[in-house]
Amino acid sequence: MELVPLADGFGAEVRGVSILDVAVDADAYRAVREAFEAHSLLLFRDQPIADDIQVAYSRAFGPLELTKAASLGENSFYSRLTNLGPDGRIVPPDHRQVLIAQANALWHTDSSFKKTPALASVLTARVLPGDGGETEFASTRLAWERLPAARQESLKDAVATHSYANSRDQIHPDLATNLERQQLPPVRWRMSWRNPANGRRALYIASHAYAIDGMEDRAARQLLAELVDDVTRRDKVYVHRWRQGDAVMWDNRAMLHRGRPWDYARERSMIRTTISATLADGLDDVRPPPKH
Ligand code: OGA
Ligand code: MN
Repeated sequence: MELVPLADGFGAEVRGVSILDVAVDADAYRAVREAFEAHSLLLFRDQPIADDIQVAYSRAFGPLELTKAASLGENSFYSRLTNLGPDGRIVPPDHRQVLIAQANALWHTDSSFKKTPALASVLTARVLPGDGGETEFASTRLAWERLPAARQESLKDAVATHSYANSRDQIHPDLATNLERQQLPPVRWRMSWRNPANGRRALYIASHAYAIDGMEDRAARQLLAELVDDVTRRDKVYVHRWRQGDAVMWDNRAMLHRGRPWDYARERSMIRTTISATLADGLDDVRPPPKH
């Protein structure tokens, strides 16, 4: 296996090992798992992309999330990100699926709004639109390490509240449905997540986060915005330009990502599988004590 750096301080292209190797070979899995813990973002090019291979690869890393009720491909392992409707035609520009793409264009980490957050996401390109539709990544681990010691100290035990509705409401008031609001009540997480494999901490924040315990609302939102701005400074961002056959995996504990817009009159279809975090991934560390 060979690792080729993607960005300054994070990300690596994996060569010589395929996603199928990882699914069937424990040594290949161990090598790729080590690269994942170290580099937070992995790219595999020219892969045999198929739903069952993607699931088999993802499963090697831990339990898979089921998609939300009432989402595309509901209650399956597959999150479908597409601007095609059920009739196989491109949806109009004001359609819910385009609004969802616009919500994905806010810097975020997947599933911080769930009761069990996500360790990692695996995204594969199925149909690409030509120009646009890149995915951008920035390291919350490197951002944490850039913070002055006093800031780290004050943030280490800080706790933020995340909700799905918070990020969706920024795009359209009806984007989060009543069912989603009911099923996805706000959850609280510490604002940093320690990786037990290497002891490195990362900021844990996202478009889903809005309130901070013990802080006035406006000040909390401002602090979160400042932190996201710092994580995602232009020179800190890796822009992934998709090619057919790409599979990309990122560490949701240590990365922010966002999708770039594209010409919504052209098809873009991607499939994501998502791996839940477990105690072995530091889940006990990011979980705050109950509020009193
Ligand atoms: C995701 C996501 C962005 C994109 O799959 O979680 O945010 O570029 N995708 O499709
Ligand atoms: Mn995402």
